[in-house]
Amino acid sequence: MKAIRIERYGGPEVLLRQDVPVPTPQADEVLIEVAFAGINFMDVHTRQGKYASSRSYPVRLPVTLGMEGAGTIMETGTRVDRFKPGDRVAWCIAWGSYANYAAVPASRVARIPHGIAFDLAAAALFQGSTAHYLCHGVGQLAPGVTCLIHAASGSIGQLLVQMAKRAGATVFATASTHEKTAIAASLGADHVMLYEGGRFADRIREATNGAGVDVVFDAVGRATLRDSFRAARTRGLIVNYGSVSGSLSNLNPIELGEAGSLYLTRPRLTDYLQDAVTVQRRADEVFAGLLDGTLHVKLDRRYTFDDVEEAHAALEERRQTGKAVLEIGR
Ligand SMILES: NC(=O)c1ccc[n+]([C@@H]2O[C@H](COP(=O)([O-])OP(=O)(O)OC[C@H]3O[C@@H](n4cnc5c(N)ncnc54)[C@H](OP(=O)(O)O)[C@@H]3O)[C@@H](O)[C@H]2O)c1
Repeated sequence: MKAIRIERYGGPEVLLRQDVPVPTPQADEVLIEVAFAGINFMDVHTRQGKYASSRSYPVRLPVTLGMEGAGTIMETGTRVDRFKPGDRVAWCIAWGSYANYAAVPASRVARIPHGIAFDLAAAALFQGSTAHYLCHGVGQLAPGVTCLIHAASGSIGQLLVQMAKRAGATVFATASTHEKTAIAASLGADHVMLYEGGRFADRIREATNGAGVDVVFDAVGRATLRDSFRAARTRGLIVNYGSVSGSLSNLNPIELGEAGSLYLTRPRLTDYLQDAVTVQRRADEVFAGLLDGTLHVKLDRRYTFDDVEEAHAALEERRQTGKAVLEIGR
């Protein structure tokens, strides 16, 4: 089968197109014929080596890239009784979706309802599950809660804005360009603004009568995190769920005290998808939103095995404003 793999970490030049054997599913795995893989920033981070020593997301080289996808079950391991060949499924946070076939732990796999096409399922499950746990599991958004969502035109950002509004929260949203803030506004964000080198924090204080917001969702990291502290209310919650601009390596806990006894968490999806029931429940809620029209995922572009480098470049250069998928084909 065809696969896009890496044997060492680095830039797009380390992506290799290889012919490799179809994987054999282990007892707790299913073999999936992949229709579409989702392309996301974790693929870029993986290629760069940021998970080389990760405990949450261990990577062992060589590895087939891609950790989200959708397709059809071909075979089930001996201990799997929830699925059968022919089932339409999607999954995330198991490597190997940039390939014709992937062997995936059954506990990471969710059924796709009728009416959701493979490309949309591949595009929605990973970031949808992430936005879902951030909104409901971490931020506990509800009417009366105020939140700030950075990078609100990014894949998770767009879904988080929509889920936060559905939950009844008041949403402040940032992005790097007016075109991107307009996307956040079109999805329902109440107040949109540019980062302006950290001035977003002053604007939010002004807009909240000096109080700051209850929850800040920050996936940008080094470039925004300290100003995010300034945007939060006393005893507010800072959810630093990503580090697209790099991470703060010199953070002293005293800063959280000085900023108003803040709570800081660095959550990971894997810890909020700990069993098969939770995986399917979050997936069902995402798919239901797509079907009833309360959630939208903009499918920005389809790539093939031939141009996946361009897909990674679009993410790294901040050119993408929707979701990209990799069409696997046969
Ligand atoms: N903790 C978790 O459970 C979890 C789960 C999934 C993903 N993540 C992480 O969440 C982050 C966002 O993921 P995503 O899928 O939403 O990514 P995405 O679609 O590529 O969006 C990232 C956004 O970040 C902004 N950005 C700011 N500085 C950037 C920089 N230096 N380089 C690139 N983009 C920059 C861009 O918007 P502007 O141009 O408007 O700033 C961009 O739209 C990633 O770090 C990813 O690894 C975390």
